[in-house]
Amino acid sequence: MKNKAIAILDANWRNGYSVPSKNLYPYQWLWDSGFIAIGFAHYDMDKAEKEIETLLDAQWENGFIPHIVFHQLSDSYFPGPNFHRADLHPLSNKKYPSTGMTQPPVTGFTIEKIYQISKDKKASLNFIKRTIDKVFKNHEYFYNNRDPRNEGLVYIYHNWESGTDNSPLWDSIFETMNPPVYTFERRDTSHVNPEERPTQREYDHYLHIIDIAKSHNYDDAKIAEHSPFLVQDPLFNAMLIKSNHALINMYELIGGNESKIEQLKSWNAKSIASFNSKLYNKELKAYVHYDLRNERPIKLVSSSSFSPLYAGIPTKEQAAELIETMQSKFGGDSMYLLASFDPTSEKFNPKKYWRGPVWINLNWILYYGLQDYGYKDLAQQIKFDSIEILDKVGFYEYFDARKSEYKADSKGYGGSDFSWSAALYLDLINN
Ligand code: SER
Repeated sequence: MKNKAIAILDANWRNGYSVPSKNLYPYQWLWDSGFIAIGFAHYDMDKAEKEIETLLDAQWENGFIPHIVFHQLSDSYFPGPNFHRADLHPLSNKKYPSTGMTQPPVTGFTIEKIYQISKDKKASLNFIKRTIDKVFKNHEYFYNNRDPRNEGLVYIYHNWESGTDNSPLWDSIFETMNPPVYTFERRDTSHVNPEERPTQREYDHYLHIIDIAKSHNYDDAKIAEHSPFLVQDPLFNAMLIKSNHALINMYELIGGNESKIEQLKSWNAKSIASFNSKLYNKELKAYVHYDLRNERPIKLVSSSSFSPLYAGIPTKEQAAELIETMQSKFGGDSMYLLASFDPTSEKFNPKKYWRGPVWINLNWILYYGLQDYGYKDLAQQIKFDSIEILDKVGFYEYFDARKSEYKADSKGYGGSDFSWSAALYLDLINN
């Protein structure tokens, strides 16, 4: 299995960056790159560093990092650079075509993780020195442009920015919209069973939000005013807070940089306070998303609800409540940890992308989060479940949480030979 994981990562490497999955995702994706680099760090430090340096090379002048970097044209994916038109933004990167949206900010904790895994600390510290200010600038971008109420909680303006693309979380927002019916040719459904992907009508919503952002040349203030989708996402904000912590640790290691450390600490203090007062739902005993456009909490539990464990956000009491919710809704002998959406909800769909299947990157986040809070057994369980699933069916994109679905010839769902499943497997087996 270990050799197979390495073979997948090497096959998906494109001389400077990795594709998440051949054909289905033929470009560089932001959060994929972070997780992939962590996998590379276990056996090929040059690739780990290059993956991140290429991503940061695509950063915009204002610090923004796009969610897809289109390194070359490919007709196996839609929508491509000609739909996204990031060049409409005056500060967009002139070297690489990209999207005008971002993804969970994993880069900060990725570079720290690479340093921790490294056996040559001196060389890795040089890598940190080359990259850290760019990541800091990215965080500055978020707090200066994505937090219109100055709460320390940044917004996402598109479900693709969340990473959890078609989660039932977004259904109530899409109900407020009535996008045109677009004429376009989906490519994803020619690589993957359409039952495992978002619907055509959902894609109309996705494209429409982009068209609105484009009509404002991707101006953040105008997006905050006009986008029908504007959400404070606990997963996204937890990744930012975790990355702030990582930058603090790395700046302390480098020495100097006091003002940056102070800035990071003050962002985190404010963010964590707002996070716990605004995003924690006492009845559900879980963190929930906040719909900023329609001024209402989205009272649904998903794998994102537990991700604040990874960033040290919950109090001990809140952590205990989260575990209670996790075990009562997502646990039990018949289920692998952890479904991406509440299995007790009528919206749970065990095969459809982010509406229920298990994702290895969320499991990985929760494994470390549970460990940090002292839930060693549950951490082990989530790790062993991840390894068992991958051992049974291979390195797919996502997986059924129901143990009864696993037969001798079962497969996973979505793309095969999926980079971050392979990469994070390498990290999990090394722990
Ligand atoms: N994951 C999205 C897709 O499926 C884009 O980020 O195309």
